[in-house]
Amino acid sequence: MLSVRDLHSYYGKSHIVQGVDLDIGAGEIVSLLGRNGAGKTTTLKSLVGLVSGSEGRVELDGRRIDGNRTCAIARQGVVLVPEHRGIFAELTVEENLAIAERRGSGRTRSAVYDLFPRLAERRCNRGDAISGGEQQMLAIGRAVLCSPKVLLLDEPTEGLAPVIVDELIRIVRGLAQEGIAVLVVEQNIRFCEAVASRHYILSQGKIVFEGTSDEFGRASDARETYLALGSPGKSAGDAQTIRQGINQ
Ligand SMILES: Nc1ncnc2c1ncn2[C@@H]1O[C@H](COP(=O)(O)OP(=O)(O)OP(=O)(O)O)[C@@H](O)[C@H]1O
Ligand SMILES: [Mg+2]
Repeated sequence: MLSVRDLHSYYGKSHIVQGVDLDIGAGEIVSLLGRNGAGKTTTLKSLVGLVSGSEGRVELDGRRIDGNRTCAIARQGVVLVPEHRGIFAELTVEENLAIAERRGSGRTRSAVYDLFPRLAERRCNRGDAISGGEQQMLAIGRAVLCSPKVLLLDEPTEGLAPVIVDELIRIVRGLAQEGIAVLVVEQNIRFCEAVASRHYILSQGKIVFEGTSDEFGRASDARETYLALGSPGKSAGDAQTIRQGINQ
């Protein structure tokens, strides 16, 4: 579905993304992990044409999308939900969705309300008068209105309570079950382990680890060196607990 080859991005003279290769299949959830400043956000922004002067080959279903404008890339099906959610504070939930619905193709607001019943309850609240979790749902809901093939989520669980994180896990899994490919950047390792089946670690703009969840669980050196996590131990146990809770 999405294939990225030899991606390079720069801010001025700083070479931030240094030859990244990524692959995400339809219905697959993949995580991109790394320390602060590793270049995760820059990678996601580069994929949707938000970092000028990026180089490399980005293909969606075999067709090149690199070099296109962000709105064209979104129409083709690659949609970024940015780190700080990017919703309009002064507009209501309904109005935020209405704008995206007009730009989007196919999905309707009522489909988003079905996916996020909480948003339906808050439809008249302004964007700055809903909780952080509801803001994240609104941001994902807006992206869903674009009928994405690939969703890029930048730190979706940031600042959210564990119970809301569980809800997001269900939602992200549901979207993947519909065939949407999801690339999730996260600091929340438990979320990644619960939701993603493959993981990449980025360090100083380069992919330094790539593997399945099992391989990631066993890669204690990489976890220690690049994520300061060490052996899976507690975090793997937590992920198991989350999975059990969700599957109940
Ligand atoms: N607009 C910008 N102009 C110049 N440098 C930038 C800009 N945005 C980010 N950088 C720098 O690029 C590097 C990578 O930043 P990026 O935001 O991609 O990291 P990240 O992995 O997403 O980090 P975090 O986990 O803190 O979100 C950092 O050194 C950062 O300071
Ligand atoms: Mg970031």
